[in-house]
Amino acid sequence: MIFLPPSHKNQNFVWFLLASVLSLCHTPYTSAFHCRSPSSRHFPSRRLSPSPLGVVFPAGPSLAASTKDAFGLTAETVSETAYTRKTKRESKSVEGTGQGQKQKARRSLIRSNVLQKRPVVLRLVPQSSAKESLRKGDPWVFSDAIKRKINGPPGCLALLQDEAGKPLALGLYDSSSPLAFRMLSLYNSPQRRNRLLNRRQRQEETEEWHKSEPNEVSSSLIASRLERALDLRERLFGVSSHLMLRPPSLSPSPSRSLEEVSSEREREGVSVTTGYRLVNGEGDGLPGLVIDRYGPYAVVRLDGAGPAGFYDGGGIGQFLVDRLHGLDAVFLKGGVTEGAGREEGEGASRKSVSLLASSSSCPSKDVEVLLKHPIEFYENGMVMHSDPLRGQKTGAFLDQRENRQIIRKIAAGGKRVLNLFAYNGGFSVAAGQGGASHVTSVDSSKGAIEASRAVWERNGLSPGRHLPVVGDALEFLKSSTEFNERVEAMLQKEDLGGVPGGGDVKVKKKEWEVVVVDPPSFACSRASLMGAEKKYKELFEMAARVTASGGCLALSSCSSHLRLERFMEICESAVSSAGRTGKVIEVRQQAGDHPFPLSSFAMRYLKFVLIELD
Ligand SMILES: C[S@@+](CC[C@H](N)C(=O)[O-])C[C@H]1O[C@@H](n2cnc3c(N)ncnc32)[C@H](O)[C@@H]1O
Repeated sequence: MIFLPPSHKNQNFVWFLLASVLSLCHTPYTSAFHCRSPSSRHFPSRRLSPSPLGVVFPAGPSLAASTKDAFGLTAETVSETAYTRKTKRESKSVEGTGQGQKQKARRSLIRSNVLQKRPVVLRLVPQSSAKESLRKGDPWVFSDAIKRKINGPPGCLALLQDEAGKPLALGLYDSSSPLAFRMLSLYNSPQRRNRLLNRRQRQEETEEWHKSEPNEVSSSLIASRLERALDLRERLFGVSSHLMLRPPSLSPSPSRSLEEVSSEREREGVSVTTGYRLVNGEGDGLPGLVIDRYGPYAVVRLDGAGPAGFYDGGGIGQFLVDRLHGLDAVFLKGGVTEGAGREEGEGASRKSVSLLASSSSCPSKDVEVLLKHPIEFYENGMVMHSDPLRGQKTGAFLDQRENRQIIRKIAAGGKRVLNLFAYNGGFSVAAGQGGASHVTSVDSSKGAIEASRAVWERNGLSPGRHLPVVGDALEFLKSSTEFNERVEAMLQKEDLGGVPGGGDVKVKKKEWEVVVVDPPSFACSRASLMGAEKKYKELFEMAARVTASGGCLALSSCSSHLRLERFMEICESAVSSAGRTGKVIEVRQQAGDHPFPLSSFAMRYLKFVLIELD
């Protein structure tokens, strides 16, 4: 067994030597379980090895032999008294320090929400497929796969073992949720760890393992994963584009207007994007934590009671304000619901938005004042709105960003476009900017349709080219199809000598050359999948019926329970039931700022297929 060299010389080095010697004598997993103690004083009598999570894992063969021996208690004895909630935060100023110190100080802003002396111990039911999925990196374990169920506060840290008691992973646990365990870290041998991590990460993790302060259980891990997530976004979107962008209502005299910055960037050949997902939960190694940035503001969402219990929202907010240039405020959008991607309940009340942190240049501390108007941001050069207070999710659907770019291209040359489930008109504006002659936006939400009108005009598009419709999308399609059938019947009569439309008037069928269908998730649970598949098929079939010959049909589903292969089958069956054939131009997914673990199909939730119909 190879141990990573310790960065501390003193006591830790003694532990290092001792653990290394023992590792040569014991079973592989014994020495391989590299853990860090949040506070070695909790376990003074046991031999400990450090963990990147700061949770105490006693090393040695006893771990496999008996959970009770290894942890000094049975899992059942872990009670509420073992947990204390951190209520007070010492917000450290990072002013006037060097880069390294700044980073350290920033990291210390994040605190673990749930303090526990040791993780609760869970065990898988025999022959559970979760064991293999976890090893492949799928971070979810559902409650039916867990044999030993423990009551702990939602979001407490848990060690998951296989049926024989061998450690598998460490994660967040919520005993009341069907999605009971969300993995934070897989049990890895040091060799594997060495292979997986690059030098910098290895060094960082080594440092973390040797910290011994309590309450750093998850904070250092969260901080380093946040850094990685932000680093990815900086590479995807650049760091400087959003500096000057401010909603006009908040900055009466910004140094440059949105348009000035945009046209400047366009001249440079760069399409500005200032709205993107900063953190995508499991995809960024931070289960259940979603953060969207809209120019000067960011909105946090915690997916379920587990993540809500685990993460320290205020600390994360402060970290972001400190770390990200031009970020004025971080909000928390409440409402505890579950699911991957965006399939939790639509909308939330105004009361459910709170301020987590703000910069010194933030013009107010009042959420209602800050969010009085929708936040303006750029998406590939087009002005978009996000309304965290009145809107759905964090305020906008960023995952379709790159798919909107495709519609922009497809709509070129004066196409007529129908955008169903339009929300605030992202696809509509993209089509309008791309050169569509006319766009119809349909959504059941009046507020969303009003927003689609505002966004359309904000982008300088002629109101005469846009028809916003409040209504049910399926009803809209049905009435359009019925209308078309009547027209067909009249045309047939005309052939037989009848006079359709009263002689001179040409009656046109309700058909569109581009039809976008982006419904909310119809399958919010595995149980509802069958019913959802029927709904998708009916909707897609109706949409195919109103797509002009040679036109394009863009079909989407954001249900995490519906696999891509099955989605494609539904699309094929729907098009064929409409009596049409077609060819697939593109099969796409969520944008790159919504990464997902390689092994988790559920987190590759967004499916988008573009079909040209014959
Ligand atoms: C996933 S969002 C659409 C996002 C949008 N396409 C975008 O790019 O921002 C789903 C939308 O469907 C709307 N909706 C839900 N049920 C509907 C229905 N039966 N008919 C029309 N719209 C509906 C919701 O109001 C919501 O705006």
